[in-house]
Amino acid sequence: MTERNMQKALEEAKRVVSLIESDALTEDQKKAIQTDSIANFNENVNPGWLEYRKSVSTDAAFVEWEDEGDVFRDLNGVEFIDCLGGFGIFACGHGNPEIKKTVMAQLNRYSLHSQELVDPLRGYLANLLGMITPGDLQYCFFTNGGAEAVEMALKLARLATGGRWYISTVGAFHGKSMGAISMGGKGAYREDYIPMIQQVQHVKFGDAEAARVAIENLEAVGEKVAGLIVEPIQGEAGVQIPPDGYLKALREICDEHGVALIFDEIQTGLGRTGTMWRCDHEGVCPDIMTYGKASSGGLVPITGIIARPWTYEKSGVGTGVEGKMFDNPWILGSPTFGGNPLACAAFISTIRYMLENDLPGLSKQKGERYMAGLAKLHEKYPKVLTTYRGAGMLMCMEFPTDEVGHEVTKALFARNVMTAGTLVNAQTVRIEPPLVQADETIDKVLVALDEALAEVGEKYGLL
Ligand SMILES: Cc1ncc(COP(=O)(O)O)c(C=O)c1O
Repeated sequence: MTERNMQKALEEAKRVVSLIESDALTEDQKKAIQTDSIANFNENVNPGWLEYRKSVSTDAAFVEWEDEGDVFRDLNGVEFIDCLGGFGIFACGHGNPEIKKTVMAQLNRYSLHSQELVDPLRGYLANLLGMITPGDLQYCFFTNGGAEAVEMALKLARLATGGRWYISTVGAFHGKSMGAISMGGKGAYREDYIPMIQQVQHVKFGDAEAARVAIENLEAVGEKVAGLIVEPIQGEAGVQIPPDGYLKALREICDEHGVALIFDEIQTGLGRTGTMWRCDHEGVCPDIMTYGKASSGGLVPITGIIARPWTYEKSGVGTGVEGKMFDNPWILGSPTFGGNPLACAAFISTIRYMLENDLPGLSKQKGERYMAGLAKLHEKYPKVLTTYRGAGMLMCMEFPTDEVGHEVTKALFARNVMTAGTLVNAQTVRIEPPLVQADETIDKVLVALDEALAEVGEKYGLL
C-alpha cells in the first residue's frame, strides 16, 4: 500500500514534472524512469498489465518516451515501427507537425472552455463534419472517448424513435462502458457484468436478414426497436468484412421499421479503410454515426456523434418541431471536457491535413502495397499465415492458433515492429499503421514479417 504523505507526494510530483520538462534525460534519469515504471505499474496501476505487455515484448522494460512520423521511441532512442497505430489513432502519423502547430496555437490561447460562453471551435468543427460526412448528417455532439460517443448514439436512438430495444451483432466491439458493453458481441468482455441493458438482441454479423427477423419478432410481441448498431467492418473481432450490400440492406430494413441506423465508425472512419468513411464504400448514410480515434490527430482525444436532423427534431434534443423546441439541449449528456477547444483544434487541423493530403486515397494505395506483400507471404508460408484480409490500411493476418499468432507478434516485436492481436486473442493480428507510413517502411515491415514467419514456422513444424 502507498502510504499517505503530502510532503513526499510534493517532492515526487516535482521530480516527475522535471523529467517531463527535461529536453534530454541523463543516463541515471533513464534508468530511474525504467525502474519506476515497473514498480508503479506493479504497485499502483495493475500488475496484470505488465504481464500482458511482457508477453509480447519478452522484456517489460521497454518504456515509450517519444514518437514521430511512423515510429515510437523508447527511453534509449530505440525505434519501433508502428503497425498498430494505436488501433487507428495515428492516421496522420505520430506528432504530426502541422496538427501540432494548430494545437500549440490553441493551447497558448486557451485550452478548455468556460462552459457558458459560446466556444467557436466546436461550431467550426461541427460545420466541417457536416461537409465531410454522407447525406444529411448534420448535428454533432462531442465526447472524449469512443464508448462515451456510443452511449450518446444509443440514447439519441431511444429519444428519437421512442423504441427501447437495440439490435447489435455477434463479435461487435463498441467500448466498455455499461451501455456500450451491453452492445458488445464478445462474451469474454460481458459475462462479469451481466445483467446489463436487457433490451439487446445480438444477430449474426454480415447477415441482414437476421437483423430483419429480430426486429420483426420483437414487433410481433409488442416491442419497439430504437436502434441497430453496427461497425461497417468489425475491427476488434479481427477485421471482419461483411458482404457488399450488407449496409444497404440494413438501411432498407431500418427505414421500413422506423429504427435508427447507427454506424460505429470509430475505427473505420476518417480514411482508415480507403474511403473517408467505410459507409461511403456502399454509398449508405446512417441516421447516427460515431467517430473517434483518428479524430485526435494522434494528439488530443476527441470523439463524438453526428446525426440526421430527424433524430434531433423527434427527440427534443434542441431543434425540436412538434412543440419540443429547445426542450433540453443537454438531455443527451453534458460532458465537462467534451468538444473542448484544444481537442476541436486538433480535429479541425486533422480534417485539413486529411483533405489536403488525400489520406483516404493514400490509405487505399498503401493498403494495396501491404496486401500484395501479404499475398506473397501467404503463398510462401500457407500453414503459418493461413489467411489475411483488409480494406485500405485496416488489415489482419490469421494464424492456425492463438499461440502461433502470439509468437509471430513477438518475433515482429523483436525486429522492432509493433502489431497486436485482439485484446483476448492473437490468432488474428491486426495491422493498422499510420496512413502516412512511408513505402520504404512498409517494405521493411514485410521483410521483418517474412523472417518472423520463417522463424515461427520452423519452431512449430509448419514450413
Ligand atoms: C468500433 C469501436 N467502437 C468503440 C470503441 C471504444 O472506444 P474507446 O476505447 O475510446 O472507448 C472502439 C475501440 O476500439 C471501437 O473500435
